[in-house]
Amino acid sequence: MRITVLGAAAGGGFPQWNCHCRNCAGLRAGTVRAKPRTQSSIFVQARAEGPGVLINASPDVLTQIRQQPVLWPRPADAAAQRHTPIAGVVLCDGQVDHVTGLVMLRERGVPLPLWCTDPVAEDLTTGYPLLNVLGHYCGVDRHRIALDGTRFEVPGVEGVQFRALALDSKAAPYSPHREAGVPGDNIGLEIRDTHSGRSLFYAPGLGERSPAVIDALHAADAVMVDGTFWTDDEMVRLGISRKHAREIGHLPQSGPDGMIALLDTLPAATRRVLIHINNTNPILDEDAPQRAELARHRIEVAEDGLLIDL
Ligand code: MLT
Ligand code: MN
Ligand code: ZN
Repeated sequence: MRITVLGAAAGGGFPQWNCHCRNCAGLRAGTVRAKPRTQSSIFVQARAEGPGVLINASPDVLTQIRQQPVLWPRPADAAAQRHTPIAGVVLCDGQVDHVTGLVMLRERGVPLPLWCTDPVAEDLTTGYPLLNVLGHYCGVDRHRIALDGTRFEVPGVEGVQFRALALDSKAAPYSPHREAGVPGDNIGLEIRDTHSGRSLFYAPGLGERSPAVIDALHAADAVMVDGTFWTDDEMVRLGISRKHAREIGHLPQSGPDGMIALLDTLPAATRRVLIHINNTNPILDEDAPQRAELARHRIEVAEDGLLIDL
């Protein structure tokens, strides 16, 4: 199975359009050594040439498609005028940065195959009614993601199995359950290649270290997890938010109960990658001491175009 990182940034991307933080301003000016990143999404294929599954639909999906030949149309019948290698879309949550790209995929002749949990489907038909809007274009062929550990495949991408783990993160601000979260607002995904038996655990929003999360991380050959913030008070200290990382469902990397400490408990062979990196996070600066600290813990920072073969 091949995983292509289409976008590695959190909501807003890097640089963010209105942000003058050290990272965003330094990237524009060329004074900070860092790579721009689009908002987070990955593409999963059973084989490098075949169709695949889009995990989350970033507002940047059109840019990502232009940047990644793997997402270009390649019809079996060369005379066909429309084609996409995107066999379906699987959503981890209903947040703006993970679902807005759905409307950019509306120019289809047939409904878009879409997998999401019931709470996310509710958000996307109430607070942010994207599925209703899409109903006026291609429509969606919605499949329910169960939270009982049932595995599912996306037709056309045989050999890749998905399994959801409900996460204690946070629903979007427009969700009916923003303040009283329900299981399924956010999920992590175990993505397994049935031939190699190897798997990725994908969780761009991860706010807790529950036993189930720890088990899922330990069971995977590679983990690609929440890299949003370095410190819990990152946005508060910069004066750009009153919310702490944990309050909005993101485990910060630093500290005795942070992501680095959690990843340190994994088997030595597990590949560890951070994704959904906020533009304020010092790890985006390739010369930052925080980046060197990640390297000492053998933790990678995802960037657009990163490939992982499992
Ligand atoms: C999040 O991951 O917490 C949200 O996507 C934040 C946002 O971009 O609105
Ligand atoms: Mn986000
Ligand atoms: Zn910034």
